[in-house]
Amino acid sequence: MSKDIVILFGTESGNAEFAAEDMAAAIESDAEVTVVDMTDFDVSEFSADVFYVLISSTHGEGEVPSGARPFIEALNSNAPDLSGVEFAVFGLGDSTYEHYSRGSEIIEEKLRSLGATRIGLYGRHDASDGSLPNDAAVEWVKDLFATL
Ligand SMILES: Cc1cc2nc3c(=O)[nH]c(=O)nc-3n(C[C@H](O)[C@H](O)[C@H](O)COP(=O)(O)O)c2cc1C
Repeated sequence: MSKDIVILFGTESGNAEFAAEDMAAAIESDAEVTVVDMTDFDVSEFSADVFYVLISSTHGEGEVPSGARPFIEALNSNAPDLSGVEFAVFGLGDSTYEHYSRGSEIIEEKLRSLGATRIGLYGRHDASDGSLPNDAAVEWVKDLFATL
């Protein structure tokens, strides 16, 4: 991929962070990759020159995890123009909950409402089968970059 890649993770209990690091390791031979906690990301720095990979869990009753709350609040209050920004999304969740994987969808919808474009298949991990998110996330990100 010609663009630099920023993997933005939103987590409550660490799964999305570990998966983000494993995804970065899987693709860093093909591109410049940085892993950033959504909590620390300045939304005014979104750039069309960077490809964003977002990974977020769901907490509460279909809400974004606490690590993604400042990110969503900043997007709501600053409403940056994200025209030209491209991103892909991987959601962590558990299908035994009523609002499966909703946290990542809230983030995805917000970015699109501000003009960004989602690329590729929507990736998901369902914790109800007892598997770890890392393997699914790594497989998804490799497929994503093989098709871009
Ligand atoms: C208290 C609690 C609430 C949760 N609520 C949901 C939910 O509403 N929908 C869903 O799909 N998953 C839900 N999950 C599952 C988490 O999204 C899943 O375990 C995920 O892998 C956690 O990732 P994290 O460690 O990055 O936060 C919940 C988990 C916990 C512990």
